[in-house]
Amino acid sequence: MIDTVRTIAALRAWVAEQRQDGRRIGFVPTMGALHEGHLSLVAAALSHCDVVVVSIFVNPTQFGPGEDFDAYPRDEAADLSKLAQAGAQLVYLPTVDEMYPADATTVVNVSGITEGLCGGARPTHFQGVTTVVTKLLMQVMPDAAFFGEKDYQQLQTIKRMVRDLDIPVEIVGVPTMREPDGLALSSRNLYLTAQERRQALALPDTLRAVAAKFSQGAPVAPHLDWGTAELLRGGFDTVDYLELRDAQTLAVLNIWEGQPARLLAAARIGKTRLIDNIAIG
Ligand code: PAJ
Repeated sequence: MIDTVRTIAALRAWVAEQRQDGRRIGFVPTMGALHEGHLSLVAAALSHCDVVVVSIFVNPTQFGPGEDFDAYPRDEAADLSKLAQAGAQLVYLPTVDEMYPADATTVVNVSGITEGLCGGARPTHFQGVTTVVTKLLMQVMPDAAFFGEKDYQQLQTIKRMVRDLDIPVEIVGVPTMREPDGLALSSRNLYLTAQERRQALALPDTLRAVAAKFSQGAPVAPHLDWGTAELLRGGFDTVDYLELRDAQTLAVLNIWEGQPARLLAAARIGKTRLIDNIAIG
């Protein structure tokens, strides 16, 4: 059995006790439906910190109208046993009412870096993420918080936000965990039919194939166009984006000059939207 708390007060009491004992606190925020990707964040946190707090909160404010908030997979008992196994010390499971007082009117908005990519197709998504992550960081007050490179725009946005707001926490990015065939682990993979699961492989395959085509000093657009066609040929119904961006600022790169960059894509197959990204250079 693993310790659980459901209120901010109980969370703070637990954290205060750990602090009194001089322990370094790691924090892994999640929306549950946990898989090995989430557990790799817990492992990274355990290697940096003495104790690890994991939150499970399906945050309504980061889902747009018509998105999968209601359908989002929830399995608290399975999640708790995975986290106990992984060696986490505390699971924080706030209710929506605990997180958002009915008359709350404050939001956190990070401009620029949240526009385009996932922010283009999901215009209110990142404000929901940055607001809830700020609140979670203020509630837990960890020494370090761990986020996956799988959600690369989210990771860079949170690094920027923590720097801009002087939030005293170290943000650690953790590499994407993949299935043996290369598909990035995602809670949304549960939505895929067997055929869609096979076709979904076109996403990591295409990212790697496009990456191999870039050459220093040359325009990237022809390769991105080829990659988009390749995703559609592979069975995706639509491609939200396939773009090359600066690895840190996420500025658009039309020509790759050899700097650290990231190739990012989002595409839809049936009713499922999948995202992935890989490092360039
Ligand atoms: P969720 O999608 O549950 O993801 C929780 C964390 O797990 C994120 O940091 C995400 O990047 C990471 N993650 C997901 N799949 C991964 C994989 N295959 N390999 C490595 N890490 C992976 O992201 C969110 O929740 C929410 O937006 C949240 C930050 C909790 C705010 O509500």
